[in-house]
Amino acid sequence: MDKFVIEGGRRLSGKLSVSGAKNGSLALMPASLLAPGFYHLYNTPNLNDIWTMSRLISSMGVNCDFEGSTLTIDSREITSFEAPYEHVKKMRASFYVLGPLVSRFGKARVSLPGGCAWGPRPVDLHLKGLEKLGAEINIEGGYVNAQAKKLIGANFHFDISSVGATGNVLMAATLAKGTTLLTNAAIEPEITALEEMLVKMGAKINGVGTTTLEIEGVDELFPVDETTIPDRIEAATYLIAAAMTKGEITLENIIPAHLPVVFSKLGETGCQLQVYKDSVYLKMDDLPKPVDLVTSVYPGIPTDIQAQWTAYMMLADGVSKVTDTIYHDRFMHIPELLRLGADINVIENAAIIQGGKKLTGAVVMSSDLRASASLILAALVAEGESEILRIYHIDRGYENIEDKLNAIGASVKRVKTDLI
Ligand code: UD1
Repeated sequence: MDKFVIEGGRRLSGKLSVSGAKNGSLALMPASLLAPGFYHLYNTPNLNDIWTMSRLISSMGVNCDFEGSTLTIDSREITSFEAPYEHVKKMRASFYVLGPLVSRFGKARVSLPGGCAWGPRPVDLHLKGLEKLGAEINIEGGYVNAQAKKLIGANFHFDISSVGATGNVLMAATLAKGTTLLTNAAIEPEITALEEMLVKMGAKINGVGTTTLEIEGVDELFPVDETTIPDRIEAATYLIAAAMTKGEITLENIIPAHLPVVFSKLGETGCQLQVYKDSVYLKMDDLPKPVDLVTSVYPGIPTDIQAQWTAYMMLADGVSKVTDTIYHDRFMHIPELLRLGADINVIENAAIIQGGKKLTGAVVMSSDLRASASLILAALVAEGESEILRIYHIDRGYENIEDKLNAIGASVKRVKTDLI
């Protein structure tokens, strides 16, 4: 197993290119199950989660071939309609295959994902939506068995805005008979990008990018080439990293329209920002002002930067509150941040951070992807050396993170360890 050894106290300065969005590619790849043929997905990040999805769809007969950041998918032959536990337990996004499989082939057997490190993450909305389209669903032995002769268009309202459920039900609806109306659909950029790909494939979708989607089912779809959008969470993480070290950074290959709330929050803390067409420059000269954060659905602050913001606020001169309204228990990083010297209390779904405490290097453990990012950020500013264990979590979602950080002045070493 690998760990990171990080020498804190270095100012970050320089230019980085943001990779393709993990959550973007993870939504596009299963869409290839909807129509047989060759797909080229450009700007696909080389990440463990992408490999997990590749292995999963390969186990169904699809051929996945990576060259640089181009993923070529050959879905001409699908030989299995099952997503086994061994893949789904590693990554919940595996559940995305359910909608396309039941819609196109009339059957699917997909393992239930179970909980995640920070608590329950239900899939009831995915299942209710598919049932509304006529899928017969039963759960047995930890698996969802879904079948339908032909899905039939219907109206479905998402009681909670859900990225995954929207993607799943939307993909299913593209090949259903008749019209489907989805309301309170997620409008995260990764879902809008999926809608755009589906439209290119021949799907008839009205309301792309909005919370109301009207999908008129078609008999067949066609393979296409698509480019994954840049990773807005990776971008936000590097901006916070630069700000924490009183550094400066130019981030290239971003879509600024996906990040306005992040820019504005960073501005409130005292960062100077210049936003260009597809890049942003950030400079920070001081310690941050304490700024509260409340996560919400897009276009609000993503829950996926909650942990990183908490690390940032450890440097502020004053008290700040970081509230997560999406995942109420997503605070596994806090006990580890405390080991570095932070003063943080979790009350219900909020972290109360008393900033300005002296941070010193320590051995800490990653519990999930974004928690790992927050530990890395904290280690970049802690005095002395920190070790971050279980970095397989970070490898799920940040492409070449140590190379990228080292290129702008950090000291992050990947080292083999027996510690787990
Ligand atoms: C996606 C992202 C993840 C991000 C999350 C929220 C991917 C691969 N992952 O996860 O990085 O943190 O969006 O932006 O894109 N919910 C239900 N029932 C359901 C589904 C969801 O109650 O059937 C709830 C969840 O518990 C959560 C909220 O809805 O409170 C939003 O979750 P959702 O948008 O579905 O997250 P994911 O798609 O799993």
